[in-house]
Amino acid sequence: MKKYLITCILAIATTLGACYYDVEEELYPSLDCTTAGATYSGVVEPILKAKCYKCHDAANNNGNITLEGYANVKKYVTSGQLLGSIKHSAGFSQMPKNEAQLIDCNIQKIEAWVNEGALQN
Ligand code: HEC
Repeated sequence: MKKYLITCILAIATTLGACYYDVEEELYPSLDCTTAGATYSGVVEPILKAKCYKCHDAANNNGNITLEGYANVKKYVTSGQLLGSIKHSAGFSQMPKNEAQLIDCNIQKIEAWVNEGALQN
């Protein structure tokens, strides 16, 4: 262990970042996405809050679309617009507007929640 540390410190001295710790998620992005148990309150709402509320909360309902609150979100699940927009499917506006698409894992989690019935959980 001590020997490893010393080697590592030496390595840092020569190449910065040599002690880089392999993050599993970065190495295996698709394998590491756990979609089981994706709930509205635990997963979906926080993503929407972080990525969509600035344009779609009750106060900033861009395009007359509010994604604040379960009942409102459910409407766009039922219409297919929620998944269509975040997956950039043909025929839908791409969301979040003018920003990078949500990371794959978050799209998969939202999709899993929808497939489980989009419950208020
Ligand atoms: C920068 C502001 C902005 C952000 C951020 C944003 N939207 Fe939008 N969104 C809009 C505007 C404006 C419209 C209406 C005009 C249009 O469709 O482009 C819209 C339309 C939509 C629609 C209807 C699209 C359709 O084709 O029927 C959905 C669904 C939607 N947004 C969901 C989301 C979701 C989910 C997020 C977050 C992942 C998000 N939006 C982030 C501005 C935004």
